[in-house]
Amino acid sequence: MDKIRIAGGRRLSGKVRIGGAKNAALPAMAASLLTDEPVHLSNLPDVWDVGTMRRLLLRLGTSVTQPSLHEISLTTESLSSHDAPYELVKTMRASVLVLGPLLARHGKARVSLPGGCAIGARPIDQHVAGLEKLGARITLAHGFVDAEADRLHGTTIRFDQVTVGGTENLLMAACLARGETILENCAREPEIVDLATLLTSMGAVIEGAGAERICIKGVDRLHSATHSILPDRIEAATYLVAGALVGDEVELQGCRPEHLATFSEALRTIGVSVEHNEDSIRVRSAQGALKAFDFETAPYPGFATDMQAQLMVLLTQAHGQSHIVETIFENRFMHVAELGRMGARVELHGNRATVHGPTPLSGANVMATDLRASACLVLAGLVAEGETVIDRVYHIDRGYEHIEEKFAGLGADVERIV
Ligand code: UD1
Repeated sequence: MDKIRIAGGRRLSGKVRIGGAKNAALPAMAASLLTDEPVHLSNLPDVWDVGTMRRLLLRLGTSVTQPSLHEISLTTESLSSHDAPYELVKTMRASVLVLGPLLARHGKARVSLPGGCAIGARPIDQHVAGLEKLGARITLAHGFVDAEADRLHGTTIRFDQVTVGGTENLLMAACLARGETILENCAREPEIVDLATLLTSMGAVIEGAGAERICIKGVDRLHSATHSILPDRIEAATYLVAGALVGDEVELQGCRPEHLATFSEALRTIGVSVEHNEDSIRVRSAQGALKAFDFETAPYPGFATDMQAQLMVLLTQAHGQSHIVETIFENRFMHVAELGRMGARVELHGNRATVHGPTPLSGANVMATDLRASACLVLAGLVAEGETVIDRVYHIDRGYEHIEEKFAGLGADVERIV
């Protein structure tokens, strides 16, 4: 199993290119099931989850060509299976995003329930209830969602809670439903807007993506489209924290600064210098002492749960007590124990963490537990004194493209040990 070794304490400088967003690429790939014509996607990140979605689509009968590492062309003339099996869904919850498209275009889907996940229970009740309101007949048995429908029909659906995947699944399904669908209490993440942009260029009629209420006028068929995946704001946030910790001057290129407004504002309040330009961001570590900072994770445009672990590392270096409340996932503090092994002082009470800083971190052998928690260990390794070895790096590879190469390009002493 691959590991990452980091010798901490090196200053970082230079430019790093931000890749396409994993969380936009996965729904975009699933959306290709809605048409029998080719869907071309560019700015695709070269990460494991994209590979898992590609395997799932191949299994369903999609023909896949990849003209280059960051481009893919997906054509589903007809399906060879309606079945998203457990072995794929269990490794990637986003596999459930094929449910809506399969049902809308093919009238049938069998998708394994994602089950428990390291960061929380993560049910899909909102996806299922919404599809039922669109006219699907759904049974849950033997660990599978079995769904059937003639043609879905438009209706009004209000989500009981804000869900990114639920909004995406229903948005895709409603595109081919008969009549008008109104989705209320929708997620407003930029990845939803990116999906709606792709669907619109495939011929869908959508208003309000990025707002709490989305209106979709169903059409009979969708067609071919070409789409560039939006830049990854979570990857960008990770490099911003690295720059804040040990950056002389780090420039993130090819990003969308407006999607990082809340995060950059938090960094500035902590005392970090962050400068937004049109499609780049410059970050430099603070001249003086970092200040403690309190935050609560929330749906977009609030503070993203996917950025919580990374910011916690920075707060270990800030003066005073920082309070963090995790409101999205019930078990998303698994990095705390590993950071503790590196010297961080963090108290946990349920979904609340108190970080006592500043604490010098010291290199240690640590274990990656989930995607964003692993990224936080890399950040901790960069600022720690001595050597850090991170095991179970496959968690990082799910969502970060060549993280060790990108950090090495900025001057970090980091390597993958195979
Ligand atoms: C997506 C992101 C993930 C991010 C999360 C929250 C992708 C591929 N993944 O995950 O990186 O951390 O949004 O921003 O885009 N819930 C229910 N019932 C449902 C659906 C969700 O109770 O039917 C709950 C979940 O357990 C969780 C909360 O709602 O507590 C938010 O989940 P959701 O927004 O659906 O997350 P994902 O789409 O899985």
